[in-house]
Amino acid sequence: MKLITAIIKPFKLDDVREALSDIGVQGITVTEVKGFGRQKGHTELYRGAEYVVDFLPKVKLEVAVADGSVEQTLEAISKSANTGKIGDGKIFVSALEQVIRIRTGETGEEAI
Ligand SMILES: Nc1ncnc2c1ncn2[C@@H]1O[C@H](COP(=O)(O)OP(=O)(O)OP(=O)(O)O)[C@@H](O)[C@H]1O
Ligand SMILES: [Mg+2]
Repeated sequence: MKLITAIIKPFKLDDVREALSDIGVQGITVTEVKGFGRQKGHTELYRGAEYVVDFLPKVKLEVAVADGSVEQTLEAISKSANTGKIGDGKIFVSALEQVIRIRTGETGEEAI
């Protein structure tokens, strides 16, 4: 199992959610975050206004997926979050040791 963490532009959230729903992802956690990449937030526009601060608003998505779903999940996020402009974000893939579905006690891929 993998934990896929994607940092995306906030206005892309609906598109990404739809793309992930379309491939049957079972759950998504969303957090409003701030961050900066290589440009350190300086030259990037957000909602038409240039931000003078270093940290720009971003959305963090966390999706736990079975090994067999990793590639299509990465593709769905990459395509739906892409504008071709700076600040489109990044996707981090981490090994996921265990998942427990609290209500049923299921574990592992069954719990995803
Ligand atoms: N190395 C990193 N570690 C942790 N978070 C990162 C890292 N790089 C980018 N991020 C997060 O992703 C967000 C978007 O990064 P961004 O897309 O600007 O990366 P970039 O490398 O500057 O690429 P681009 O040149 O396309 O802008 C940042 O605001 C930050 O929250
Ligand atoms: Mg950048």
